[in-house]
Amino acid sequence: MPHASAAGAAQPGVPVMPERCDFTVFGGTGNLALGKLLPALYQSDLEGHLPDDTRIIGVSLADLDDDAYRATVHDALLEHVGDLDDDTAERLLGRLHHVRLDIQDGSDWHRLYGVLKDRPHVDATVRVYYLAVAPTLFGPICRGLDEGGMTAAPARVVLEKPIGHDLASARAINAVVGEVFDEAQIFRIDHYLGKESVQNLLVTRFANTLLEPLWNSHWIDHVQITVAETVGVGERVGYYEQAGALRDMVQNHLLQLLCLVAMEPPIEVGREDVRDEKLKVLQALKPMTPAEIDRDTVRGRYGSGLVEGRQVSSYDEEVGLETPSLAPHEGYSTSEVSLTETFVALKVEVQNWRWAGVPFYLRTGKRMDRRSSEIVIVFKEPPHDVFPHRTGVTAPNRLHIQVQPDEGMRLHLTAKEPGPGGYRLKPVSLDLNFASAFSQRSPDAYERLLMDVVKGNPTLFMRRDEVEAAWAWCAPIIEHWAETGLPPKRYAAGSAGPTTAITLIERDGRSWQEDHL
Ligand code: BG6
Repeated sequence: MPHASAAGAAQPGVPVMPERCDFTVFGGTGNLALGKLLPALYQSDLEGHLPDDTRIIGVSLADLDDDAYRATVHDALLEHVGDLDDDTAERLLGRLHHVRLDIQDGSDWHRLYGVLKDRPHVDATVRVYYLAVAPTLFGPICRGLDEGGMTAAPARVVLEKPIGHDLASARAINAVVGEVFDEAQIFRIDHYLGKESVQNLLVTRFANTLLEPLWNSHWIDHVQITVAETVGVGERVGYYEQAGALRDMVQNHLLQLLCLVAMEPPIEVGREDVRDEKLKVLQALKPMTPAEIDRDTVRGRYGSGLVEGRQVSSYDEEVGLETPSLAPHEGYSTSEVSLTETFVALKVEVQNWRWAGVPFYLRTGKRMDRRSSEIVIVFKEPPHDVFPHRTGVTAPNRLHIQVQPDEGMRLHLTAKEPGPGGYRLKPVSLDLNFASAFSQRSPDAYERLLMDVVKGNPTLFMRRDEVEAAWAWCAPIIEHWAETGLPPKRYAAGSAGPTTAITLIERDGRSWQEDHL
């Protein structure tokens, strides 16, 4: 495979792959590193996208030498990648080092400084620091790196979500990281932006002329965005009980999807243009009043049930909560009740010229009946019915964008069923399945994003103002839910969520579109 940087001369402003990279992962033995980051680096190495002169330095509290860390990573690759290419695996493992470091202990840091300085051409090396740790450690890590003189550009720092718990904590994290790194050096990951189908949304909208004239309140009735998961909270109980679905999924992934649907065309898909346009959408989200929050949001929490043929426990059992099955007004004091939601549905408005009056219905939940992330654009009915005596069924046109699994698109149209005897109408669809349209493997989101960090391309990362605007919009909802103290509605695992989420959309004369590709 040719080296990525060998492909064509560098153009001004276009990020290029550096010759040398030290990729340091704080939390190097954690689930994210072993389950996602190292498999992504393996795939990049396999495809020839990793600079030849790359070292990967895992930092953790574990007492591992380089060989023991290599063995741990090898096992993780076997588990998460499956069949390994022997040469690539050997090369990747050869790049690995492990540094045992207690971030809070100043006397430990010399070990990491030593490894980072211990390489030829140290000054010409791009240093990437991936913080796959709790956000409370972001500040101490940045300060530790700064004290060792390890932060000068082209060093880059990658922040995993959650970036804060609310607006104030997000601002505090951004401030502490910003004391050490310039904004241009900070890469805040939202892995949804690395998904091929999400990037394809930009291409569908802005590399085709067909849709743009229709992409507004004149022709679109409403938009639905669903991210349904079959998994529960699993081992992340501690984090999740403090977070809930709004913080975990809506503040970041769903609002980012909404931004890509709603944004104006950027001047180009370059450094700042896309982020500028997404920020404008976040700023145009209508803040909700307490009465609107009561009316336009639904929270749920899964009970036990059957998911994909398997009986699973309730959230309360997983978390070890003694949660009553009755709501507070039925005799329970709210202080005994966890308020964490595993499902949320919302009706959202984007207050600008293009979207005035077009509701965006968002929903996300764990332990749902299926795993599916999808965006459905529902168009308006034709302005005049020229088939008043038709028979059969009609439905508004819909563009169904399947983000995962089975990425693709389906455009629902109305057609005449063949045969004599008047107009018998029937919904039909134009289908595009990416797996059959393209023979290439669809890379995992992290593969694309990690290589963008190494190249220094920030387009698919969240800027500070975006993260803070998203939190600012979520803040009144979080506060109002806490004030009312009502626990989320119960839904059976393996269902489509609480029935009130169905009412949320049906009271507007619309319904969730459940068709799958
Ligand atoms: C993460 C959330 O950001 O995204 C998880 O913290 C969630 O709770 C995950 O399960 C979903 O990602 P994906 O790529 O599996 O849809």
